Amino acid sequence: MAKYGVLTLATVATLCGLVQARFSHVACQVVENKWCTVQRLRITARTDVRGLVFPDDRYEKIRIGQYYDFVNTDSTVVVFSGELFYRMRRVRYLQMNGVRMVGLDVPDTVLELDVADNWLSRVYIDPEKSYAVRKLIMRNNLLTSIGSFKYLNMLEELDLSDNMLHTVNFDVFSFMPYIRVINIARNRLFSASAGSGVISLGYLEEANLAENQLTKLDVGVWLFPSLRMLNLTGNPIKRLNLSSQQSFPRLKSVLL
Ligand SMILES: *[C@@H]1O[C@H](CO)[C@@H](O)[C@H](O)[C@H]1NC(C)=O
Ligand SMILES: *[C@@H]1O[C@H](CO)[C@@H](O)[C@H](O)[C@H]1NC(C)=O
Repeated sequence: MAKYGVLTLATVATLCGLVQARFSHVACQVVENKWCTVQRLRITARTDVRGLVFPDDRYEKIRIGQYYDFVNTDSTVVVFSGELFYRMRRVRYLQMNGVRMVGLDVPDTVLELDVADNWLSRVYIDPEKSYAVRKLIMRNNLLTSIGSFKYLNMLEELDLSDNMLHTVNFDVFSFMPYIRVINIARNRLFSASAGSGVISLGYLEEANLAENQLTKLDVGVWLFPSLRMLNLTGNPIKRLNLSSQQSFPRLKSVLL
């Protein structure tokens, strides 16, 4: 009987939890220039996000995290899952800075995603999906590899500065025909492989590889007709092979 009682209680508690979750609306605390700012949102790996409702999902621009310097306004989004994205699927511009995020399913219909200042090491990109993201800011995270980023083929701007990348193969960028800015400064790059064939990026203007551990850079098979700035400051580079200058007709500054 006692056991039955406990079970009943547990069931009632679960139902209450569900009912409560069903009415767990997430509101914009501040709306400014069409940006909805959400504060005090707590999503851990165990949160059942199916209960969340973003009543303000008419907003295309959502910002979650520490935006104002008030106390107790910060949020936690440890895992940004596809399930959570489904709750706010009209968002096109999404910022989640300093929310202690470790895992991210890249949302496929977001145009600009800023997840700087987190602890991201697991980024899931589904090869079956087509991604609309044009601007991706992942500055100051814990990324160690970006092989799967080749499926983000609408990217124009990619900021991966201050991560933990050891190597980068430029083949990954050959899948991003519109890329304009690549920032991989302040990682641990000791090797940047040029890629297995000709890499032609017609819009690339800036490549920042500053403050890494690169000792050489062979760029003979790169065709970057719009490249203006190649920043290699703070690398122990001994040999820079820029023999085929015609690949970079607009190059104004190589910073060494
Ligand atoms: C090049 O990189 C260095 C080191 O990160 C930085 O201080 C400098 O501002 C960069 N230059 C340009 C033009 O971006
Ligand atoms: C420089 O690059 C060209 C083209 O890839 C290559 O043929 C040449 O051997 C390279 N030179 C050095 C010194 O590595």
